[in-house]
Amino acid sequence: MTTMTTATTTTVLEASGVTMRFGGLTAVRAVDLTVNTGEIVGLIGPNGAGKTTFFNCLTGLYVPTEGKVAYKGTVLPAKPHLVTTAGIARTFQNIRLFANMTVLENVLVGRHTRTKEGLWSALLRGPGFKKAEAASHARAMELLDFVGLAHKADHLSRNLPYGEQRKLEIARALASEPGLLLLDEPTAGMNPQETRAAEELVFAIRDQGIAVLVIEHDMRFIFNLCDRVAVLVQGEKLVEGTSDVVQADERVIAAYLGTPFEGAPGAAEVAEVEAAEAHQEGTTPDTAAPDTAPRAATPADTPDTAPAADPPPDTAPPHHEDGATPRATGPEGKAP
Ligand SMILES: Nc1ncnc2c1ncn2[C@@H]1O[C@H](COP(=O)(O)OP(=O)(O)OP(=O)(O)O)[C@@H](O)[C@H]1O
Ligand SMILES: [Mg+2]
Repeated sequence: MTTMTTATTTTVLEASGVTMRFGGLTAVRAVDLTVNTGEIVGLIGPNGAGKTTFFNCLTGLYVPTEGKVAYKGTVLPAKPHLVTTAGIARTFQNIRLFANMTVLENVLVGRHTRTKEGLWSALLRGPGFKKAEAASHARAMELLDFVGLAHKADHLSRNLPYGEQRKLEIARALASEPGLLLLDEPTAGMNPQETRAAEELVFAIRDQGIAVLVIEHDMRFIFNLCDRVAVLVQGEKLVEGTSDVVQADERVIAAYLGTPFEGAPGAAEVAEVEAAEAHQEGTTPDTAAPDTAPRAATPADTPDTAPAADPPPDTAPPHHEDGATPRATGPEGKAP
């Protein structure tokens, strides 16, 4: 999992001073982040921290209020199709597939930025077009095989189970032949087995020479996978470092739990306290926030004066809109 052994490491992505304001709200504040070749970098943070907004700034969906984004040394224009053509592909937190297209067609759509055949060629369906079409088809099937969906090439994408839709999104993103892949919560809604498989898939993508930047709430997934992890809290980069460094950082634990108390406890201690509380009340604590729960408590939301015995919200992981339950150390996300 160490990065390059040779001295050929180059910077794939360089975001500098990226700020995104929506009216009075600063969703992302002066964030610097680099991703190098051969790296898998994680981006974590509580709900509403600005992770997806940051991705949207990287991919031209938003024009950042300030800052710039460079891919392999060239500053990117804030236009999604130009960003894709340059070499950055992404998946979305809320899956965006063409529901009534087949699995294969969805991947073919992802290839359009790499297809050189023009309008006339397509209309006349000349030999050049047919050859390009055959090549695209072959490549799309190869990618489906890579993510484990070749046997479902002819299925309508809307009929795929959730976990497979996420894989299909990855195949479609890879179809643009990117040098950098951005994944926004790739395991949300996956069961633990699917999550482990997704981990292997991300390693395999990295091994193909594609750098990866991944947002995820499943901490085990992140810490297993990433060479480096950046933590975003309230739009700002709080910490960045190796998995070990980030995992041990008290500020990170506090940001997730919203309870900055002395000698921040490890996962085992938190579980112990929860179990004891459950026992006392004679009920299983509802560790997941209810569906109607407001966004995650951030440290600022949790006043110091809040009594420690205040029920669940203190220890409950923040609610997540995709149905995944983010945990500081939790074993898995849950199915939606
Ligand atoms: N288009 C928008 N207009 C106004 N506010 C927005 C917009 N997009 C995001 N926000 C706000 O920016 C903040 C960051 O949201 P964002 O979706 O980036 O968080 P996130 O870290 O991806 O959270 P989650 O883990 O829940 O996906 C939130 O307060 C959100 O409400
Ligand atoms: Mg998000």
